[in-house]
Amino acid sequence: MAETVVSVRDVNIYQGSNLVLQDVNFNIARGEFVYLVGKTGTGKSSLLKTLYGELPLKEGVANVAGFDLKGMDWKKVPFLRRNLGVVFQDFQLLTDRNVHQNLRFVLKATGWTDEKLIEEKINDVLDKVGLKSKGFKMPFEMSGGEQQRVDIARALLNSPKLILADEPTGNLDPETSDEIMQLLFQICKDYGTAIVMATHDFIVINRYPSRMLKTERSRVLDSAVPV
Ligand SMILES: Nc1ncnc2c1ncn2[C@@H]1O[C@H](COP(=O)(O)OP(=O)(O)O)[C@@H](O)[C@H]1O
Ligand SMILES: [Mg+2]
Repeated sequence: MAETVVSVRDVNIYQGSNLVLQDVNFNIARGEFVYLVGKTGTGKSSLLKTLYGELPLKEGVANVAGFDLKGMDWKKVPFLRRNLGVVFQDFQLLTDRNVHQNLRFVLKATGWTDEKLIEEKINDVLDKVGLKSKGFKMPFEMSGGEQQRVDIARALLNSPKLILADEPTGNLDPETSDEIMQLLFQICKDYGTAIVMATHDFIVINRYPSRMLKTERSRVLDSAVPV
């Protein structure tokens, strides 16, 4: 049995006083690629935010990368974040500094001090996303696809067992989306990283089929569980 990196039991997710998702149950194993699909407004981002500690878990039990989310002290959220990578639709790079400095900023902020190791790590993640020679570039000098690669490189900095990606191809044209999907599947396969990716892009899903969790009418349906 592969190691479980996400376990969610009887979880209810709220935005304010609104119940967005109820009775959520699923497990994700090391190395799994799982889509999170469902119409806009059905709770995909709310579920991901719960998993990365942005939305506090109120009801139910969840364990993410070894962290028990129930009743987790907000001071522990940075430690949780160090054990997972998060990728966004809009990249969220710091626009006033180059790629290398963006990555360096994250390492410094997560406690890295050894300059040699910092350099090695930055070169390592840039190599993994195919941007080895682009460290000096400013975000505005890069295409959307390249910026998304930098975002993925940033997610890889702390060698996470889990990457949570919220519509990572949402701002990209079909060809560039394809390249990003190939990269994500390769990361999943090569490093055994579990990936949960929210998307409503069925072209992408059809080209790269995998297990699906679907948000629908306040529930999460799991393609791995027969109804
Ligand atoms: N910050 C927020 N404050 C209040 N309600 C929110 C917030 N974010 C999302 N919601 C609501 O929660 C529901 C689920 O939204 P969301 O998780 O963003 O869905 P999706 O990512 O599938 O589009 C929607 O009804 C949305 O309006
Ligand atoms: Mg969303």
